[in-house]
Amino acid sequence: MPKKNTVATLLAMKERGEKITQLTAYDYSTARILDAAGINTVLVGDSLGMTMQGYEDTLPVTMEEMIVYGRSVGRACQNTFVILDMPFMSYQVSVAQALENAGRLIKECRANAVKLEGGSRVCPQIRAITESGIPVCAHIGMTPQSVNAMGGFKVQGKGEDNARRVLEDALAVQEAGAFMCVLECVPPKLAALITSKVKMITIGIGAGAGCDGQVLVYQDMLGMSGDFVPKFVKRFADVGSIMSEAFNAYDAEVKAGQFPDAPHSYVKSDCSDEFLAKLAQEY
Ligand code: KIV
Repeated sequence: MPKKNTVATLLAMKERGEKITQLTAYDYSTARILDAAGINTVLVGDSLGMTMQGYEDTLPVTMEEMIVYGRSVGRACQNTFVILDMPFMSYQVSVAQALENAGRLIKECRANAVKLEGGSRVCPQIRAITESGIPVCAHIGMTPQSVNAMGGFKVQGKGEDNARRVLEDALAVQEAGAFMCVLECVPPKLAALITSKVKMITIGIGAGAGCDGQVLVYQDMLGMSGDFVPKFVKRFADVGSIMSEAFNAYDAEVKAGQFPDAPHSYVKSDCSDEFLAKLAQEY
């Protein structure tokens, strides 16, 4: 019998050395399937700006949009632990702003935790949100909301100074109260070292197998996100091709008059031929 994942059950999984699964989801139908599959945690990531809205980065996503998508996922998840991303500029302005917006995501979406990007510089926000009783997932390494400052989506933590900075960020966000931390595009050996040094859960994306768990964007792992596939993405299915085939078949059958056929029509509840002939004469 599957059990609701909580901060305590997830931390216990780390203690026992069991790997933790995380996928993104942004809608009710996908989140239901993922919940039934036993995925431990779901991230309503601000990657929805790219995957659901077609922007080239995550920067335009608003709080209102996060709440619409987040609510749908929150309603679908019985056992999967729901984490909502705090969008760009919803927490950077001040600790008070961060606290208010984290509270909205929890209250309005029934999320279990919030995620925000940045290391030492966002520790005051992490501390305040955690102290208010909201679990926080940090996000360090490659932080997509800083794409303009980083000059693109690039691997972080390369070279000794950068590696030390990423490790220090991990220790800082843990000290501020984060129970989980996404390590994005961090060299695998550094990610494994960080994982061994912290009590919080590390979730890797492009950070090798040494993390406590893994996250992928669901459209990437299902082959639904176009031709560019980042090196760290494995396509577990080619749902994009299956959808294309189905859409083409539907288009062809409707245009050929083959769909809907008798098995897909409400024949039994139809009116009698006599009545329809009378109706045709009347009008
Ligand atoms: O927004 C997102 O989906 C993320 C993951 C890629 C970690 O932050």
